[in-house]
Amino acid sequence: MVNTGKKTIFSGVKPSGDLHLGNYLGALSQWVELQDQYDCIFCVVDYHAITVKQDPADLNRRTLEIVKHYLASGINPERSIIFQQSDVTEHTELAWILNCVARMSDLNKMTQFKDKAGENQENVSVGLFDYPALMASDILLYQTDAVPVGDDQVQHVELTRTLARRFNQQFSEVFKIPEVVIRKEGARIMALDDPAKKMSKSGQGAAGYIALADTPEEAEKKIMRAVTDSGDSVIYDKEQKPALANLLTIYSLLDHTPIKDLEASYRGKGYAEFKHDLAGVVKKFLAGYHLKFNCFRDEDVKEILKQGMAKAQPLARETIAKAKRAIGININR
Ligand code: TYM
Repeated sequence: MVNTGKKTIFSGVKPSGDLHLGNYLGALSQWVELQDQYDCIFCVVDYHAITVKQDPADLNRRTLEIVKHYLASGINPERSIIFQQSDVTEHTELAWILNCVARMSDLNKMTQFKDKAGENQENVSVGLFDYPALMASDILLYQTDAVPVGDDQVQHVELTRTLARRFNQQFSEVFKIPEVVIRKEGARIMALDDPAKKMSKSGQGAAGYIALADTPEEAEKKIMRAVTDSGDSVIYDKEQKPALANLLTIYSLLDHTPIKDLEASYRGKGYAEFKHDLAGVVKKFLAGYHLKFNCFRDEDVKEILKQGMAKAQPLARETIAKAKRAIGININR
């Protein structure tokens, strides 16, 4: 991992709620492709999950499950580092330093906080508000070049860039300024029951999302019940036919068929046939995915996390030492 000359990728998933097709298409499947060109670090960001209430046993179980999702998607632990955020304490340490660089006005701009806190802003945890500083710390600790995420995380990566630049100017050049990487199609998979909302693992009825743990039959029902737009021609038009555009995107990414080719093959056919075929594609994908997912045992996953921690820690330590020196802490040791 060290000195390969390749650029570094960092990304992560929170172990809260069920992982869904949006996470897979917007993030995980993208990461798999990037493993060839980059040194990759994929984290299970458990400290992010506790910004909202979690059942301790569920959190522990989900952390292991997220690793199984990484593996089932095709992340290779021999090539990429997979680790648990709380195992590398430098994440919370750097987050504190970045808290002292971030301004209230930076965090007040974060739309995800506004969406999540809603009317309840006075009662949510301080952690939920401050979460982007921890995310910046995750990224900056590894001198990351690129951060592959879904569209909903772009604002957080932009804040990361702002904090890195501000720190570098105020103290000295410690952090690399990371770029965001998002998919051209699939960066924002929408809910099946409402194409105006993004597919989400929390705050949505199960009809809106296909969980990666759904049985193929459950997923089929959800696709057949997914809302469609007026008219009956299968055309990709995000403005006029947002529901269909979303279904075409899912079909195209899972079946590795360009949207143009799908439009051509469904010319003159209606929504019912299209949805029936899409349900088949999703069922086939999930059946294969579950076969892989079920191969991994908890013991294997724990071992992968242990090895990942051992590889991530020295990288994080190097950066935190530089950051501390820059701000005048630990200079004489
Ligand atoms: P999280 O756990 O909510 O989501 C994990 C990844 O899935 C993407 N995603 C989607 N992509 C397309 N369509 C959707 N409907 C959809 N829903 C979710 C997310 O954009 C994300 O890439 N804050 C992050 C986790 C994090 C992180 C980091 C990411 C913490 N530290 C450092 C990158 C780098 C989050 O909550 O993602």
